[in-house]
Amino acid sequence: MRRALGLWVCLAACAERGLDAEALKDPASCQSCHPTQYQQWSGSMHAYAAADPVFVAWNKRGQRETSGALGDFCVRCHAPLAVLEGATTDGLNLGELPAKYQGITCYFCHSVQRVDGTHNNPLVLADDRVLRGGIADPVEVDAHPARYDPLFDRNRLESASLCGSCHDIVNGHGTKLERTYLEWQSTLYARGEPHQRQTCGQCHMPSSEGVAADVPGVPLRRIHDHSVPAVDTALIDFPEREAQRLQIQRLLDTTLYASLCVLPVAGGMQVTVQVENFAAGHGFPSGATQDRRAWVEIVAYLGAGVVYDSGVIREGEAVSELIERDPDLWWFGDRLFGENDELVHDFWDARRVEGLALPGPTSNDPFDPSYVPTHLQRVYEVPEFASRITARVQLRPVDHDVLDMLIDGGDLDPSFRALMPTFELGATVLEWRAEDGRACVPL
Ligand code: HEC
Ligand code: HEC
Ligand code: HEC
Ligand code: HEC
Ligand code: HEC
Repeated sequence: MRRALGLWVCLAACAERGLDAEALKDPASCQSCHPTQYQQWSGSMHAYAAADPVFVAWNKRGQRETSGALGDFCVRCHAPLAVLEGATTDGLNLGELPAKYQGITCYFCHSVQRVDGTHNNPLVLADDRVLRGGIADPVEVDAHPARYDPLFDRNRLESASLCGSCHDIVNGHGTKLERTYLEWQSTLYARGEPHQRQTCGQCHMPSSEGVAADVPGVPLRRIHDHSVPAVDTALIDFPEREAQRLQIQRLLDTTLYASLCVLPVAGGMQVTVQVENFAAGHGFPSGATQDRRAWVEIVAYLGAGVVYDSGVIREGEAVSELIERDPDLWWFGDRLFGENDELVHDFWDARRVEGLALPGPTSNDPFDPSYVPTHLQRVYEVPEFASRITARVQLRPVDHDVLDMLIDGGDLDPSFRALMPTFELGATVLEWRAEDGRACVPL
């Protein structure tokens, strides 16, 4: 019965019959039968990873600054198939390579056979034309053999190693630059009770009912969103750009929660802001934390006049400049330090990371030794009486000083500076008014 159905599916889509080894590597070959996954992926940061102008500029800078010693370090994650097949050794020729080598492709993920480590992309691909996935009983089709593998099943804990080992970066000095997988491993999502477990895929590839392939005769199943929005948006003309941005905003709007409490004290008010990592299954920010800047803005007014503020950024200013001039500033992110303990941006120079992130939940029980609160708080001393106080958290995916370094080095076009968005995190936008007679907002 299954064979007969497979044959029928093939007849219905016979133009695509039997993708050969080369065709399998090209995402365009998948589009006709998997239009949903293709469309979602095409706008994802996985598709963008090798086209990202910030990436291209930084890799170019790295090759120059290290006289080529950087080698395939960056490109082995951002265009892994190109490295595997010897199409590039340093990523400097990415612009000349065909689409099948750009970014993290369908074939690259769906051919993973083994995960041989925890960081720097230790994924080992099979060479048998079989595309692995999370469907236990895939309908047979001539285009490609398919097989279930728990590494792709988001309901299995081991699936986090497929994502995670490419999301953690350790540089040549042993510095743990990006640690999303490591952070996740310390949370209850990675080791808690079965009903608390959440893998990367369970949060980042939400499922819905649909067909896995757009060919007649396939059953309805749970299919999974491939657009993986989070923080970064395409800065160039790119598919699904606006849709991605909306999805990012929607996610960020419920990622952090905040509260604001006001206590009148002699000569002014004491304002306590609490920020909580409500939804991220690791720290927030995470990943490229060294380039990210999340910060708290607080403004106290008396009537229309401002009596106190912190975290108010000027047009075009880098958050790093704000850090220098605003002693009260409360911000989240990492900074990298080099050989002489000086501030650096370049990955390959980093010997030490210092920063502050809102941790993911390690336990729900405050008496558990592993318990770490997912919220942090900060007290601001407002030196005068205020009748109204506003607060919010903003996030900039890559700070201006990082972009300026790439622009000044001649590797990045100056126009990208103005294109870098700054997001406001919806659930952290608060307003307290003396006239409401409440100590805290929200209550
Ligand atoms: C001729 C149509 C066709 C083409 C072309 C095609 N597929 Fe498929 N694919 C299918 C069908 C049919 C299924 C089974 C769907 C089901 O069982 O619900 C499938 C299943 C899959 C699965 C799920 C495997 C599992 O067990 O979970 C993956 C992954 C997959 N395809 C990836 C790809 C990729 C990547 C490409 C491009 C290189 C591609 N497919 C090209 C028809 C096609
Ligand atoms: C970053 C890795 C990654 C990339 C890139 C990727 N996929 Fe997937 N894909 C997955 C994972 C993981 C699942 C399974 C989720 C589950 O079942 O829990 C999946 C599931 C699927 C399925 C089964 C149906 C479904 O939605 O669950 C198909 C078909 C598929 N992918 C096709 C594609 C195609 C076509 C592309 C490129 C256009 C692509 N994938 C790119 C990781 C990836
Ligand atoms: C081959 C390495 C690799 C694998 C495997 C991989 N990723 Fe990624 N992922 C990347 C890279 C590189 C980027 C960022 C590209 C860029 O912005 O230039 C990225 C971006 C992302 C983003 C967007 C981050 C942002 O700030 O916008 C999310 C979310 C994500 N990946 C989740 C996943 C999940 C879930 C899986 C497993 C199903 C996975 N990744 C597997 C390399 C990988
Ligand atoms: C409990 C749900 C959950 C789990 C589990 C989870 N994430 Fe996330 N992740 C989030 C949320 C929420 C955000 C923040 C929303 C956003 O960035 O739009 C986020 C943000 C990210 C980002 C962007 C980070 C940043 O701040 O720059 C990356 C990359 C990412 N996740 C990858 C992963 C990987 C890889 C795993 C598995 C090791 C994972 N996530 C597990 C919910 C989750
Ligand atoms: C282990 C795999 C890996 C390696 C090695 C790696 N990256 Fe990435 N890169 C990622 C992932 C995963 C993300 C997404 C992280 C996030 O969204 O927080 C990313 C995001 C980025 C981004 C977009 C976000 C940002 O901060 O600008 C740039 C640019 C980038 N990488 C440049 C580089 C450069 C340059 C190198 C080499 C010096 C490099 N990467 C090495 C996996 C890697």
